Amino acid sequence: MRRILIHPIIKFNFQEPLVFTYNGRELTGFAGDTIASALIACGITTFHHSYKLHRPRGFFCAIGNCSSCLMEVDGVPNTRVCITPLKGGMIVNTQQGKGKF
Ligand code: FES
Repeated sequence: MRRILIHPIIKFNFQEPLVFTYNGRELTGFAGDTIASALIACGITTFHHSYKLHRPRGFFCAIGNCSSCLMEVDGVPNTRVCITPLKGGMIVNTQQGKGKF
């Protein structure tokens, strides 16, 4: 698990696990996670591939200002997972190309 467990300022709540699905796999995050932080904690760092050259893209700005973390969440393409709070039961998929509406 790639996760900060103890921090001098921020308190983490690991009491409320949230199960979600990523590309058909069941993964677990925690209340307070974004989708991106939960994926990274599970070792997943490639969120989609660039449209033209198909280069891997992942966590970059972490504040919702780029397009590096776009994924399909509950059927909605182009969701910025770095700013989207994780909820239990979410279905998160790697997006192909520009995403289908
Ligand atoms: S990492 Fe830039 S918008 Fe999510």
